[in-house]
Amino acid sequence: RRSASDSSSALSDSNAPKQPFVIGVSGGTASGKTTVCDMIIQQLHDHRVVLVNQLFVILFYGGLGVLVKCAIVVVVDAFDTEQLLDCVQKLRSGHSYQVPIYDFKNHRRSSECFRQKANPVQLVQFLSILESNDVKPLWQSSSLSWKVNASDVIILEGILVFHDQRVRNLMNMKIFVDAGLSLYLVVLEIMWCVFVYDQKVHALHEHIKVLTDADVRLARRIRRDIVERGRDINSVLEQYAKFVKPAFDNFVLPSKKYADVIIPRGGENHVAIDLIVQHIHTKLGQHDLCKIYPNVYVIQSTFQI
Ligand code: ADP
Ligand code: C5P
Repeated sequence: RRSASDSSSALSDSNAPKQPFVIGVSGGTASGKTTVCDMIIQQLHDHRVVLVNQLFVILFYGGLGVLVKCAIVVVVDAFDTEQLLDCVQKLRSGHSYQVPIYDFKNHRRSSECFRQKANPVQLVQFLSILESNDVKPLWQSSSLSWKVNASDVIILEGILVFHDQRVRNLMNMKIFVDAGLSLYLVVLEIMWCVFVYDQKVHALHEHIKVLTDADVRLARRIRRDIVERGRDINSVLEQYAKFVKPAFDNFVLPSKKYADVIIPRGGENHVAIDLIVQHIHTKLGQHDLCKIYPNVYVIQSTFQI
């Protein structure tokens, strides 16, 4: 792996492409988007791609999920979309971009924070700011930013990245990740809750017969948010029921129709990932990038829904 500063020297190469290849990766929460991105990057890396650390900061956080009181409907606010659009446009035209960082925990610059230690108290505070329909102060109070250099491949990952037509239009390839139904996984996740929380599960066999894709994602999310994001099970379930599920139904699922490729079974689907990587290689080849190391950035566009 190279550091961000290493990447800028590669980018100063006169062979640098005029237009990076932009990939959008969408899908429901815990569908496997990050897993798929990691695998794509890994496979590109095996060939001739140099990665800049992909454990990225939270970008464009907060603005898209504006809670309309009572209706529990999540509406889309233009604020973050403009930022996102601006960022992708700049990167696409070969410029670097100073990305605002929202650090969920302490307004500290830390890419680990979101993935590992998002704090439930902060979450509640954040939700009340959303409820007041005013997300701007979050941005204004944070002077932190992170420089993303122009790159050859940009992977734009997030539950709502297909929502805005202007952002979609900047994408060369749009991927939607489906979790698929893995009973084995759900059983594993349930067993985990049984052991960790000492929960009794009755008639498991009957329950899993009716499980859907969304149930698999919920099972994963419960575990992930507890293990990686420091949440407790009640806050995970509450957030899921109030925000995550309605947002999926209202915004994420309807945007699936824009996908060029739908990957069932997420990161388990090696054939799909191989095909995608092959396609990226073909496109990179067309841009005659063989003499430079393409850098891959994952821009994780995440929202409080
Ligand atoms: P997303 O980025 O869509 O939220 P992730 O790729 O982060 O999804 O996956 C969510 C959680 O589910 C993570 O804990 C991950 O390890 C797990 N996970 C992802 N894909 C699978 C899979 N095919 N089988 C089992 N667990 C998976
Ligand atoms: O990786 P995934 O697609 O699941 O990330 C999006 C989800 O992360 C959103 O559903 C949002 O509720 C959640 N999120 C969170 N805590 C944060 C930021 C986002 O739970 N600090």
